[in-house]
Amino acid sequence: MHLPVASCLTAAIAILPVSTALNIIVNNDDGFGSANIREFYRLLKAAGHDVRMVAPVDNESGQGGRSVFTSSPKLTVSSEYNLVPAGAPSFGQDPMDSHIFYYNGTPAAVTFVAFDFVVPMYTNWTKVDLLVAGPNFGNNLGPFLYTLSGTIGATYAAVERGIPAIAFSDGGSGTQRSYKEINATTKSGSPDPATINAQLSVSLVEQLIKNGNKSQLLPLGYGLNVNYPAITSLVNDSCVKPTFIQSRLTGGADVDKAVFNATTALFRYGDIVSPGANACINGDCSLPGETDVVSSGCFSAVSVFTVDYDAPNCKGDPNVQKLLTPLVQYQNATVKRGMSPRRFVRRSYLDEDS
Ligand SMILES: *[C@@H]1O[C@H](CO)[C@@H](O)[C@H](O)[C@H]1NC(C)=O
Ligand SMILES: *[C@@H]1O[C@H](CO)[C@@H](O)[C@H](O)[C@H]1NC(C)=O
Ligand SMILES: *[C@@H]1O[C@H](CO)[C@@H](O)[C@H](O)[C@H]1NC(C)=O
Ligand SMILES: *[C@@H]1O[C@H](CO)[C@@H](O)[C@H](O)[C@H]1NC(C)=O
Ligand SMILES: *[C@@H]1O[C@H](CO)[C@@H](O)[C@H](O)[C@H]1NC(C)=O
Ligand SMILES: *[C@@H]1O[C@H](CO)[C@@H](O)[C@H](O)[C@H]1NC(C)=O
Ligand SMILES: *[C@@H]1O[C@H](CO)[C@@H](O)[C@H](O)[C@H]1NC(C)=O
Repeated sequence: MHLPVASCLTAAIAILPVSTALNIIVNNDDGFGSANIREFYRLLKAAGHDVRMVAPVDNESGQGGRSVFTSSPKLTVSSEYNLVPAGAPSFGQDPMDSHIFYYNGTPAAVTFVAFDFVVPMYTNWTKVDLLVAGPNFGNNLGPFLYTLSGTIGATYAAVERGIPAIAFSDGGSGTQRSYKEINATTKSGSPDPATINAQLSVSLVEQLIKNGNKSQLLPLGYGLNVNYPAITSLVNDSCVKPTFIQSRLTGGADVDKAVFNATTALFRYGDIVSPGANACINGDCSLPGETDVVSSGCFSAVSVFTVDYDAPNCKGDPNVQKLLTPLVQYQNATVKRGMSPRRFVRRSYLDEDS
């Protein structure tokens, strides 16, 4: 990236790929039987890619980046839509398609099972070129949903492993449903929303391949968060071809608030647009927020994120370093502190969590 222009061009000519087919893992948080993921898988294969679906056996919405593996070798209940019965192994292949794998874990755990088990044991791939997640049923907009969404969690888990990854989320077109409920035709004459969401997603992948470097589709540490508007094809054709707009995570974004009900003595969540979730600190502040893009009409929002969550520069303005001194010492990373970093022991099984 910091090479002079001439050497970039030379490199580009030297490594021009003979084939633009990618090795792609498809994951999600709605589960391996959901309509959106099945259509995306089908259309990525139709576009010529080598694709494996590795996805949760059940709905794992809202798990964020939690990496939780089951402690049970067998499923205690049948999978979503009864595609696999109770008593089947916790990891396995779809009875109808040996390139579709399910696992009883959170979306981030499934990403790791894909990379560390499915790819070495069930493919001849030398590397994974891309991980895609979704399209999720329902939008995942802004920094709060970035951490909360299992779809995005599956994605940043891949980016942290050095694999380019893209999270896709639909605008809540229809309900979360099985792939067996995808209709070939609709009232509007346009395809099922699941098919349109998948077509849009494939077109974005193809755009990256066309412009980019097949051996590194996105820069190291980068990922994309893509949100679609509600596709209306089940009813009419007013939103069946949304335009892609580049966006940022902050801008118009919601965060939860706690709403107390005195009758039930329970809290539920409400939404609040708070300045903390919408401060523009990194990236291009002239871009519209993804929440604003999707709510402004028939538009899709594409935000570029990185997994480097550090603030831009501790010596910059505002000078946060100065606020911490003298209690917190400033040292650079070359200074040896005489101890090697130690990992904390974590709970690692689904069933130990409540
Ligand atoms: C493509 O990406 C690989 C891996 O990061 C890198 O070694 C190579 O130089 C890149 N090529 C171009 C043309 O950017
Ligand atoms: C999936 O799980 C989430 C979070 O628990 C829940 O809100 C949603 O209704 C579930 N969806 C289905 C189809 O069960
Ligand atoms: C690996 O490639 C060989 C030769 O093309 C093929 O016979 C075999 O089935 C492949 N294995 C997997 C797991 O895809
Ligand atoms: C699919 O078509 C059937 C028959 O017309 C209809 O009952 C059903 O609601 C449709 N499904 C969706 C998701 O639109
Ligand atoms: C098309 O359907 C959507 C979703 O039901 C609705 O909001 C919109 O008003 C409809 N547009 C037209 C032109 O009928
Ligand atoms: C509080 O809960 C009760 C019982 O579910 C419900 O009828 C009522 O509408 C709720 N009140 C508010 C303000 O949401
Ligand atoms: C890091 O700190 C050491 C000790 O103060 C200093 O010698 C060195 O030049 C510093 N390196 C950088 C890159 O700032």
